[in-house]
Amino acid sequence: MDAHPDINTTPRGFRCTLCDVNLPNAPTVDAHVKGRKHQHLFRLRATRKTQEQNSVFVSGIKPDTSQMQLIDYFQQFGPVSEVIMDKDKGAYAIVQFEEHAAKQSSLDQLEHEMGGLKLRVKPREKKDFKVVIKKKQEGKNTHVNMDILNRDLCQASSVNEQMLRVVESCELSESERNGRELLVKLLQEVFTEFFPDCEILPFGSTINTFGVHSCDMDLFLDLEKTKIFQSRSKSSMEQAGDGQSEDGRSEDSILSDIDLTAASPAEVLELVATVLRKCVPGVQKVQTLTTARLPVVKFHHRDLNLHGDITINNRLALRNTRFLQLCSGLDSRLRPLVYTIRFWAKQKQLAGNPFGGGPLLNNYALTMLVIFFLQTRDPPVLHSVNQLKEMACEEEECVIEGWDCTFPSQPIAVPPSKNNEDLCTLLAAFFAFYSQFDFSASVVSVREARPLPATPSLTQTPQHSPAPAPQNSDKTSPKPSTRPRTRHMTILDPFELSHNVAGNVNERLHKSFQRECGDAEKYCRSLQYQRKSTKGKSWGLVRLFAPRCPTVPGASGSSSQGEGKEKQQRLEIRLPLRPEALPGSLRCQLGAGGEGFRERWFSLVRAAVEKVLQQVLGCRPAREEDFEDQMDTSVSSGTMDTSNPEEQQCASRARAETSSSSSDTPAASGDGAHQAGQKRSLSSTGPDSGFSSPQGKRQRLSSGDEGPDSACWCLVQRHRVWAGRRRARRDMLKSGDGGAAEHSLSEEGGVAMEVRVTELLTAQEPDPLDLLAFRVGARVEGDGENMATLLWFTPLFDSSGLFQDFFHFLESFIPKTTEVLLGLGEEKLK
Ligand code: UTP
Repeated sequence: MDAHPDINTTPRGFRCTLCDVNLPNAPTVDAHVKGRKHQHLFRLRATRKTQEQNSVFVSGIKPDTSQMQLIDYFQQFGPVSEVIMDKDKGAYAIVQFEEHAAKQSSLDQLEHEMGGLKLRVKPREKKDFKVVIKKKQEGKNTHVNMDILNRDLCQASSVNEQMLRVVESCELSESERNGRELLVKLLQEVFTEFFPDCEILPFGSTINTFGVHSCDMDLFLDLEKTKIFQSRSKSSMEQAGDGQSEDGRSEDSILSDIDLTAASPAEVLELVATVLRKCVPGVQKVQTLTTARLPVVKFHHRDLNLHGDITINNRLALRNTRFLQLCSGLDSRLRPLVYTIRFWAKQKQLAGNPFGGGPLLNNYALTMLVIFFLQTRDPPVLHSVNQLKEMACEEEECVIEGWDCTFPSQPIAVPPSKNNEDLCTLLAAFFAFYSQFDFSASVVSVREARPLPATPSLTQTPQHSPAPAPQNSDKTSPKPSTRPRTRHMTILDPFELSHNVAGNVNERLHKSFQRECGDAEKYCRSLQYQRKSTKGKSWGLVRLFAPRCPTVPGASGSSSQGEGKEKQQRLEIRLPLRPEALPGSLRCQLGAGGEGFRERWFSLVRAAVEKVLQQVLGCRPAREEDFEDQMDTSVSSGTMDTSNPEEQQCASRARAETSSSSSDTPAASGDGAHQAGQKRSLSSTGPDSGFSSPQGKRQRLSSGDEGPDSACWCLVQRHRVWAGRRRARRDMLKSGDGGAAEHSLSEEGGVAMEVRVTELLTAQEPDPLDLLAFRVGARVEGDGENMATLLWFTPLFDSSGLFQDFFHFLESFIPKTTEVLLGLGEEKLK
């Protein structure tokens, strides 16, 4: 057996890396490399390489530049075999010469002028896609930064404006759309080589007007014409008897390996996967899922950082994508509503199954819920699909797989809605509608724009029977009427009426969805939803978008509606007694039998923790009531363990303590009218009131009514004081302020330095919002040397999903800093 570059030895024999097949022994390797498939791919690869080597990349053209102009111009260097151009945008063209020498002489010429245009001619890079989508651009656009979004939303003047801003922040940017278009072109080019006359057609969020940054790219590979091509070339080969079709294409085609009409979808998809793996630059992680409802090939495009799905049997999806485009064109309120509701649902972990499967609502189902809701308004915002069908003309009639998919192609054919409710009202009404919707008894039907009873007769409605096949139809016979999978939520597809688009949703998700809708509805009734805060507090959508707090699945507890069976994750920090770190007098007391030691030690730990949180890290006391609506929407939604007596006790104590501390000590805030939890200037209670500032200026969180072995506080943090601390410390030491910094480093065991770091970090955010509100509970446990203080942290408000980060930081910061403070002695903690 000759050594072959594509054949690798494996423990079980050999593997051809070009064709992606295992080969058991040497004779099969020889047969394989001489075989048609390997030879074909081998030739094709060589051709591609030559093409690449003989091509130049040309920029500086205009959208109206034609291929002929380019051919005419570049022919002066040698024969041109092909010009591929990005005509839509006029950004570039690839000119392919027949000979390498021609390419070289075009590159050797320093300046190129064609009909007044200055062209730039460069060698063609292998990954020419990178030219259009630069990584930097991608990174900038692909993730919605919650902090930036929240800030932006807070600055809007109304919820209506906030919703429009959500669309702006999330929608696909032009460069993302361009990248996607280019990928479609590339795939079309490659697939056409293997499947003559095929079409690669995008559907779903890439084109349905609801696309968000980095959404998946859904593609349909239409092989209908390829099948016709195949059967034609078969018969012409049979007639000619020479294994060659009329146009000579079949010999080179992968089609010689497969009969498309007889092959199973799985077989065809395997072939598609091989083409993707071998022949499409930048494609990686190709995976075939043949057991899915619709078998699919998944892939990732490295340079575009994009996940894609290719299906071959999904003509209905093309049509429902057209339907969504039409709906967007019919009423401009649909897009902001869908974007906002999708965002909300993602934050609440109700939608957006990361890899397609799973019990969450998919985005298509969620969009159907919005459409259905708009159809049921009085007067309706959108028409039923049945009504739309009546507005279509004859040419627009369309039946796919027996399902009537007729609707007008243009919004102009549909009379505008008489409904003039604004976005803010519609959003609140959406939550009210679905918090009450009886999913166990009713089915969502966008087709009829009314809830249908969840009965077996569902699928016997007239539109299920196929219309006589009009022009615009596929020829497949109608499918027998099958019942939709009525489950916990049944949302009928508008066309394929036997398909429940929420068939994957489980009981738990259904309950969560309705509970979250109920909580959101309640919140939408509050002033914080409707009115912009004049105090820089979060309002409107910001609070609505607060992520669902972390939960411990399966743990028991009760929710606001008594249904949730999840327990809030109580994040805990344990501070064990470390005698060696205690100041002398305390150590002596412990050594002498410990009479009263337990209380004394706990009261010091409590004071130290309070100091760390409030003075070192700039947290401020808050009133729990200020976050109650938020607790309804984010914490109680399955996460607040209100059944836990310790939590309840702690919550009520935090309320009492905070209000007593704030009213007891008005002067301490530096503002007589100030209430704890309200906006106050950092200079009054923040870190610059200082670790070493006079005691009278320091606001105490705990009041005298704390128990001797427990305490509880409610705090708010407005700055990300945990991020970038190390760098801030380093910068301080390096800066001209070095002397002062060195001093603070040694002062109070480095705690003064930490106060300064917090000051530095907070000064970087002059216009902060409430980021996090949380409750801290403290309790002393055990006895003697086994004594420990347990701290637990409960999020009350977390607008940007930062609680976990903050807690992670506290886990190491609190024990370290508390210990230093304890070591300084009681005087420092008073
Ligand atoms: P998705 O649920 O992925 O929606 O379905 P999307 O709008 O593309 O959102 P992303 O990609 O998650 O951001 C993709 C497409 O698949 C078809 C629809 O055409 C939908 O637009 N589809 C999905 C169905 O036809 N039926 C379904 O049950 C689900």
